[in-house]
Amino acid sequence: MVDEVPLYSVPNVIGEEILEGVRDVLESGWLTLGPKTNEFEELFAGLHQSTQGVAVNSCTSALYACLRALGIGPNDTVVVPAVTFSATANVVRLLGGDVILCDVKDNGNIDPESLSGLLDTHEDISAVIPVHLYGLPCDMPEILKIAEEHEIFVIEDCAHAPGATIDGQPVGSFGDAGCFSFYATKNMTTGEGGMVTTDDPDLAEGVRKLRNHHQTRSPDEKKHDWGYDVDGLGFNFRMSEFEAVMGLSQLKRLARMNESRREVAHRYQEAISDIQGLTWEGGDSQKEHVFHLFVVQVQEDYPLTRNELYDHLSKQEIISGVHYPPLSELTYYQGVQGKTKNAEELFDRILSIPMYPDMMTEDQQRVIDALGGT
Ligand SMILES: Cc1ncc(COP(=O)(O)O)c(C=O)c1O
Repeated sequence: MVDEVPLYSVPNVIGEEILEGVRDVLESGWLTLGPKTNEFEELFAGLHQSTQGVAVNSCTSALYACLRALGIGPNDTVVVPAVTFSATANVVRLLGGDVILCDVKDNGNIDPESLSGLLDTHEDISAVIPVHLYGLPCDMPEILKIAEEHEIFVIEDCAHAPGATIDGQPVGSFGDAGCFSFYATKNMTTGEGGMVTTDDPDLAEGVRKLRNHHQTRSPDEKKHDWGYDVDGLGFNFRMSEFEAVMGLSQLKRLARMNESRREVAHRYQEAISDIQGLTWEGGDSQKEHVFHLFVVQVQEDYPLTRNELYDHLSKQEIISGVHYPPLSELTYYQGVQGKTKNAEELFDRILSIPMYPDMMTEDQQRVIDALGGT
C-alpha cells in the first residue's frame, strides 16, 4: 500500500515559538483581541502596504463586514466572478443584496471586458469583488480603471493570495479593502481566521465595531473605562490571541513558504510542457503568483477526460480536486444572473493537483508520472 499524496499540507504550523506564545497568552490572562492581535494586524497590514489591518475569525466575516461597513445591502447589486468559492457571493446575499456573475478568463480570474459589459448594462451595481484565484493576482489596474469610471467599490478577495504582488505591489492594497483567509489549508493559517486590509480609517473602524457587537469601546479600552454604547448591529467576528500567535509565526514564514510553492509549480510546469493534452494557465511576468493551488487543464487531445483523470489519480492514492464549479452550477445559485460562458467551459477541464510547500520531490514525481502515464 503506497502513502497518499495529499492535495494540501501545511508545514511548520506547530513550532516552539507557537507553544511559547500560547504559554505567554495563558500567563497574561488576556485571551482575545489583545496585544498579539494588535501586533499581527500591524505586521500583516504593513506587508500588504496598507495602513490598517483588522483581524477577524474568517475571510467570510471579513468580506461581510467590509461590504456592510460600506453600506451594501438590499437594493445593491454586487459583481462576483463566476468561478470562486461560494463565500464570495454568499456574503452579498446575506446582506440582502443581489449577486451578478462576471465571466472569467482562461486562468480563472475575473475578465475585465465582461465586467465592463455588465456595468454598461446594469445601473444598480455598487461593488465588485475580484478574487485572486489560485494565488494569481487579477488585472487590478484595469479593474480599478473600470470601477472608477462607474464609481463602484472594489473589495479584493485575497483568500488564496497572501503575499502575491503585481509589479511589486501586494494584493489587498489596490481596492477599497482586501480580505484574507487563514483557514487550515490556506498559504498561511491560524486554523480559522481572516484579515481586512485597507487605507480607509473609517472602513477599518466600521469593521472593528462590527466584529465586536458594534460596541463603541474595545475590550482594552473598557479595562480603563467601563462606559460604552452599542450604536449599531454587530456580531462576534473576533480573533483570539492564540490565533494571533499562530498568525505571527506563519507570517514570518510566508515568503519562504510561497517561494517553495513557486518551486513546486515550476517543476510541474516543466513536466506538463512535455505531456500532450495537458496545459496550465497563469504565467504573467508582472505578477508574482503564490500558487495556493496548481490547476491543470485537460484538453481534448489528452487520453482521459477530467473526471477520468481524477479517478486515475485517486487509484494511485493521489488526491486532486476541482476549484470551483461555476456558482451557477450550485443548487442555491440556480438562475443567478450574469455571464458564465467561459466559466462553464473551464469547469469540464480543470483539476487541482497536489500543491504545498516543501513537497517531497519523490511525491511530486509520483504525480507527474501518473499524469504522463495514462
Ligand atoms: C476565494 C475564497 N473566498 C473566501 C473564502 C472563505 O474563507 P473562510 O473559510 O476563511 O471564511 C474562501 C475559502 O475557501 C475562498 O476560497
